[in-house]
Amino acid sequence: MSPSDVKATLSFSDGSPSIDLPLYKGSIGPDVIDIRKLYAQTGKFTYDPGFLSTASCNSTITYIDGDKGELLYRGYPIEQIAQSCDFLDTCHLLLYGDLPNLTQRDDFHKLVANHTMVNEQMQFFLRGFRRDAHPMAIMTGLVGALSAFYHDSTDINNPQHREISAIRLIAKMPTLVAMAYKYSVGQPYMYPRNNLSYAGNFIHMMFATPCEDYTVNPIIERALDRIFMLHADHEQNASTSTVRLCGSSGTNPFAAIAAGVACLWGPAHGGANEAALNMLEDIQKMGGAERIGDFIRQVKDKNSTVKLMGFGHRVYKNYDPRAKLMRETCHEVLTALGLHDDPLFKLAMTLEKIALEDDYFVSRKLYPNVDFYSGIVQRAIGIPVGLFTAVFALARTVGWIAQLNEMISDPEYKIGRPRQLFVGAKARDVVPIALR
Ligand code: ACO
Repeated sequence: MSPSDVKATLSFSDGSPSIDLPLYKGSIGPDVIDIRKLYAQTGKFTYDPGFLSTASCNSTITYIDGDKGELLYRGYPIEQIAQSCDFLDTCHLLLYGDLPNLTQRDDFHKLVANHTMVNEQMQFFLRGFRRDAHPMAIMTGLVGALSAFYHDSTDINNPQHREISAIRLIAKMPTLVAMAYKYSVGQPYMYPRNNLSYAGNFIHMMFATPCEDYTVNPIIERALDRIFMLHADHEQNASTSTVRLCGSSGTNPFAAIAAGVACLWGPAHGGANEAALNMLEDIQKMGGAERIGDFIRQVKDKNSTVKLMGFGHRVYKNYDPRAKLMRETCHEVLTALGLHDDPLFKLAMTLEKIALEDDYFVSRKLYPNVDFYSGIVQRAIGIPVGLFTAVFALARTVGWIAQLNEMISDPEYKIGRPRQLFVGAKARDVVPIALR
C-alpha cells in the first residue's frame, strides 16, 4: 500500500473546516481514501451498508476486475491456474504466496495427506444430527467442533500454529463433507486414502463402499479438482469478510472458519449453486424450455421475489471468468459420461442465451456466475443437490484461512468494529408498567 501525492479534500456546506484525507495506491485496482482519522477529526462516520464502496483491508491474495471479468490468484489469471495447476498447487499459492516447485509440491502433498483423518470422536457429533439435516447445518457444527480438538495450535498470534491449523482444515474438510454425505445415506464412513489425489480421495470417500473395489474416474477427478480451484478464493466476499471479522477477536481459527461456513450457506452467496439447480429442475417440471418465457417474466416482475439464480454478482459486471471455465467443464463431463443430451444443461444454455439478450439483464449487467453451471457438473458427478454448498465450503476453506492468516499477520490489524447511524428512540425514561 503506497501513499499517493494526491489528497482527497472533504468539505462541508455548513462552514465546518474542510479536511485532507490521504489516498493510497494498490498495485492494481481503484485507489482508496484513508478515512481512519475521519471520526477523530470531524466527529462523523461514513455510511456504507453492504460495503458498496468500502475496502475493509489491504490484501495480496486475490484480485478481481469486475468490469473486465478478470480474476487473479496472487497475480496468476484463473484461466492459467485452471489449465496448468491442481487444487493443492492453488492452496500452496494462496497460503504461501507462490506456486510450489517440484520439491515443495511433493512436501506439501505429503503434509496435507498426513492430516486427512479426523478424530474418531467426530462420528459422535454426526450421530447427534438427524439423518435428513441439511449438510451445511452439519458442516457448520462439525467445523466448529474441530475447535475442541487441537489445543496445540490455538494461539493465532503464533505463525506455526496458524500454519498447522490451515493444513488441518484443508486436509480434513473433504473427510468431513464425505462423512456428512455417508451419514445422510446410512452408509459406513470411508477412511481417507492418502495414495489418491486430493479430489480423487474425496470422490473415493464419497462413492466407495467397503463391499467392493472402487476406481476413481479421472474425468470426474479432474472436473472436481477444477471446481475446487475455481472456488478457492474470491477476495472480500461475504463469507471471507465474516471469517476476518470473526477471527479479528482472536478467536479459535476453526471457530472462525465455522462462521464462514454459516455465511456461505445463504442463497445469495454459496447456496446459489443449490438454488440454481433447484430452479432449473422446477422449470423442467413445469414444461422445460417452453416455460422459460413465463419464468423470465416472473423474474423481471418488480412485485415478485423470484430471481434468476446463478446470475448477477456484486463485483462482476461482465461474464464471471469462472462461469466460462465451468461451462467448458460442464461440456467435457457431460460428453465423457454420455450425458450430452442432459435436459437441464440444455435448459441452462437456453436460459443463459435468452437472459443475455434481454434488456433487463443487459442493462443491469447481469451475467452468469460460477454457480450457474457448477450445479450441473456436480449433479452429473453424482453429488446430491443438498451437498453442493458443502463442496463449495470445502474448496473455499483455503481462501478463508489464507485471508484470516493474512489479517492476523498484518501489523495494522485491529478487531473489526463497524459503527452505525442510529435512527431509533432518543434517551427516554421507563414509565411504570401500570401507566404504559
Ligand atoms: N435475477 C434477477 N434480477 C437480479 C438478479 C438476478 N439474479 N441479480 C440482481 N438483479 C437485479 C436486482 O433486482 C436489481 O434490480 P433493480 O435495480 O431494478 O432493483 C439489480 O439487478 C441490482 O441488483 P442488486 O441486488 O442491487 O445487486 P447486488 O450486488 O446487491 O447483489 C447478488 C448481487 C446478491 C449476487 C444478486 O445478483 C443475486 O441475488 N443473484 C442471485 C443469487 C446468486 O446467484 N448468487 C451467487 C453469487 S456468486 C457466489 O457467491 C459464488
